[in-house]
Amino acid sequence: MRKKIVGANWKMNLSRLEAESLYHKISILGEANTHVDLVVFPPQPFLGLLSRSSGVALGAQNVYGPEFFGAYTGETSLQHLMDLHIQHVIIGHSERRMYFNEHSDFIDSKAIAALNAGFQVFFCCGESMEIRENGAATSWVQAQLTSLFEQMDPTMCSALVIAYEPIWAIGTGKVPSLDEITAMHGFIRGLCEQHFESPFSDAIRIIYGGSCTADNAGAMAQLPNVDGFLVGGASLSYSSMEEIIASV
Ligand code: PGA
Repeated sequence: MRKKIVGANWKMNLSRLEAESLYHKISILGEANTHVDLVVFPPQPFLGLLSRSSGVALGAQNVYGPEFFGAYTGETSLQHLMDLHIQHVIIGHSERRMYFNEHSDFIDSKAIAALNAGFQVFFCCGESMEIRENGAATSWVQAQLTSLFEQMDPTMCSALVIAYEPIWAIGTGKVPSLDEITAMHGFIRGLCEQHFESPFSDAIRIIYGGSCTADNAGAMAQLPNVDGFLVGGASLSYSSMEEIIASV
């Protein structure tokens, strides 16, 4: 049995006071629900601040790799995160791929550097609506994951969380049908098994992201191979998080 995991991706939202207050409340929720791993991904400038108070695990929404130091204006390194005892990072989010032109090779190199440094990596993959309508969603996701898997040592599997996030579902209120989620998560599980032997492959967690809310999480959480969620908009609301955690 894989332990369920829920990531709260706050993206570029909340003031300092709002972030402190929500982190405090979510931490109490985390303490009461130890059957679920919970990771909060606040805006990067608040990481240092929040890491000073005890609470649920914190993660970074992005990181630069593989160098630990250097002339990379505006970037945060793995070493900076390690200095704050932060061990979780989102890599390859579609917003980074689309708005900041991060391409697959760069994303893979960051993921491998983070895994090598002992981080838990939430690696995002997922197709656009156009790709889905062309019947190419699985081959798209396969290409995104295969290039990563080929560079991974099997011992890294337990630190990998694959977030399947169809781009057309992110922030839109649209979600794939339960059958579509079952099919894609099953397909990804099969890919993991093709690349890594058991028990390595079994340790990879596959979570769903994209308009996950208190209303739809319950049904999705029952599906095979759905090991949790990466929650964006709804993670800004304490009551939504409370219900989502309860549903897993
Ligand atoms: P959303 O975002 O829940 O607001 O759709 C999810 C994500 O981008 O991780």
